[in-house]
Amino acid sequence: MNILSPSMLAADFGRLKPQLDTLEKNDIKWLHVDVMDGMFVPSISFGMPVIASIRKQCGLFFDTHLMVVDPERYIMDFKNAGSDLLTVHVEACKDTACTMKKVKEVGMQAGITLNPETDVKEILPFVGMADLVLVMSVHPGFGGQKFIPEALDKARAIKKELLKVNPSCRLEMDGGINLSNLESVLGSGVDTIVAGTAIFGGDIEDNIKRFRGIMA
Ligand code: DX5
Ligand code: ZN
Repeated sequence: MNILSPSMLAADFGRLKPQLDTLEKNDIKWLHVDVMDGMFVPSISFGMPVIASIRKQCGLFFDTHLMVVDPERYIMDFKNAGSDLLTVHVEACKDTACTMKKVKEVGMQAGITLNPETDVKEILPFVGMADLVLVMSVHPGFGGQKFIPEALDKARAIKKELLKVNPSCRLEMDGGINLSNLESVLGSGVDTIVAGTAIFGGDIEDNIKRFRGIMA
């Protein structure tokens, strides 16, 4: 089953509650939550207190994307804040396998991701233990960037490996996804779609319907 995970980074934070309600009313189950530390990426987004506070407001599955150096430092904090899945960058971990193992031990799903310039082989040792593999189709750090088409080849290579070693693992893509490239993204084996600008820009309900039309 394909999943649409709208990226909260593109939401209007002054109207966050009504916007999250619109997602839930339209049967969205996942929310992509981008955490940026100003070190791994130039920008700073939000952290645990914000996640804890929206956790009380909605029942969405928190698909948390950590763009954070040494993410193992914060595993328990994100668990306590209400994250359901933690995706860490292979470039940011001291010991990727150990970090993912800890994420699972505390009762969250574990995801692994890589920057556009990082070779697929860097994450292959970890895809067997992952609940989700995320392919970045923009340079992490900002919403609203242009899709990098090479991400499609990466997704195909990872999908091939997943079918061999971990067929139930989700394959997610994040960055610059819109109605014009969605079909090729799905065609590359991706089953979990992150979209920020293309969902929160304009009429959210209408945008979800159009995405669904292609994803169904
Ligand atoms: C980028 C973030 C993305 C971003 C996607 O660093 O990881 O999740 O919010 O936004 P769009 O869909 O606008 O590219
Ligand atoms: Zn993201």
